[in-house]
Amino acid sequence: MTRDPRYGIVDGEELYRKLAMGEPVLVLDVRTGSEHAARHIPGSLLIPLHELQSRVGEIPNSGTPVAVLSEKGIRGESACKLLAEHAFSPLLNLDGGLQSWTGPTANGDCNHSRHWFGIGPSNFLVQNFDLLPKGIALDLAMGDGRNAIYLATRGFDVDGVDVSQDAVNSARASSRQLGAPIRALVGNVEDGSYIIPEETYNVIMVFNFLHRPLLKEIKDGVKPGGAVIYETFTTEQPRFGPPTNPDYLLKPGELRDAFADWEILIYHETVDPEGPGARQRARAGIVARKPE
Ligand SMILES: C[S@@+](CC[C@H](N)C(=O)[O-])C[C@H]1O[C@@H](n2cnc3c(N)ncnc32)[C@H](O)[C@@H]1O
Repeated sequence: MTRDPRYGIVDGEELYRKLAMGEPVLVLDVRTGSEHAARHIPGSLLIPLHELQSRVGEIPNSGTPVAVLSEKGIRGESACKLLAEHAFSPLLNLDGGLQSWTGPTANGDCNHSRHWFGIGPSNFLVQNFDLLPKGIALDLAMGDGRNAIYLATRGFDVDGVDVSQDAVNSARASSRQLGAPIRALVGNVEDGSYIIPEETYNVIMVFNFLHRPLLKEIKDGVKPGGAVIYETFTTEQPRFGPPTNPDYLLKPGELRDAFADWEILIYHETVDPEGPGARQRARAGIVARKPE
């Protein structure tokens, strides 16, 4: 059978690798709401095939590759044909559908879980990677290890800590599968049972997590000349959704003030525009270098 030249195919392993390496790919899930709720790729946009024609305007048509996900790949073929008629390109059908996907999956509503952030690394990390001094890195509250793994694929020696055994198991599995070794530990960074060793890391990173008493320990854990990269939600966030507890939200200028005695290389306090399937997020981020 000749294949429709307007779209290509990608297998589960290859798609997982692309996402994990931070390649911009939109995963469009064309299954039903109940199939999606039972199991889906974190960060995917759900538009069931029967709604695709009427909702095609929700998908950005700006040259970002769209990978179409169905259960076995068959509905994906129909979706690719429809999207090709609307001039989407490049288009990829996930060959074998979700059944061929080998990366992490989530279920239910991701808006309250670590899966909310999807498979790939943080954009803030990708954009500022070149500012980070190479060497040993620590990812605190690493979740599924998406950022730890990204640094490991780029030559860092990485430790990652999370209180959740599930998250650590998932990070270990992804790290093995992607051939990006990290040391993933279960540890609680709030109750004193996990302590950051002093002046040990070239880079400490924290994404989407705040425990204020930890800030001093994070600064002490970085070697002179090393860096912290930190991005999390601000007090603006409750306008858009969780998290809403002020204990987990940075006040205006708070992150910058915490690093006032370091060299601040990058700082932002911004509201991301609403993306496909993702609501707005209000966050502050910093890359700061510790004095020699
Ligand atoms: C919102 S997720 C962010 C995960 C990851 N940093 C990311 O951006 O993908 C927050 C993570 O913090 C972890 N966490 C919460 N309390 C913690 C604690 N006391 N010690 C270590 N990890 C903790 C959770 O298990 C969860 O994986």
